[in-house]
Amino acid sequence: MFRPVLAATVLICLSLPAAAETYKKVKTDAGGALFETSCMRCHSVDADKASYGPLLNGVVGRRAGTYQGYPYSEALKAAGFVWTPGALRAWMEDNDKFVPGTKMRHVGIEDPTVQDFIVTYLTSLN
Ligand code: HEC
Repeated sequence: MFRPVLAATVLICLSLPAAAETYKKVKTDAGGALFETSCMRCHSVDADKASYGPLLNGVVGRRAGTYQGYPYSEALKAAGFVWTPGALRAWMEDNDKFVPGTKMRHVGIEDPTVQDFIVTYLTSLN
């Protein structure tokens, strides 16, 4: 009676890291697909590809408005903060409110799950 329970517990514990990895991969893939539909028409994640918006490869941990050579709005240039997952979520939700005067058109992604997936995808590019 005790042994099967113990065996099951050990098995579950052993499979947890693998499950976490799978979950992360699913989130990253979903985030990539969402990025493609919501952000890719203006943003690239490939340094060789110019786009209307700044390159987002490596944006997590980067100071806002500092991707070299990109003509940012004065508002984003002066913003001074570093892009954290929380900042990215607030930006996706209401970029005009987060940095008044930005030239990025309002995207309005309010679903926290969608925000989370896109942040996971962007973080995976670091
Ligand atoms: C209609 C075009 C457009 C769409 C769609 C768009 N963006 Fe942007 N984005 C811009 C522009 C233009 C800027 C530069 C803003 C400025 O200089 O004020 C920008 C800036 C940014 C920045 C600041 C980067 C930095 O270097 O400081 C982030 C982060 C960002 N966008 C994320 C996103 C994400 C995530 C999505 C999709 C959910 C998205 N954007 C969708 C045009 C767009």
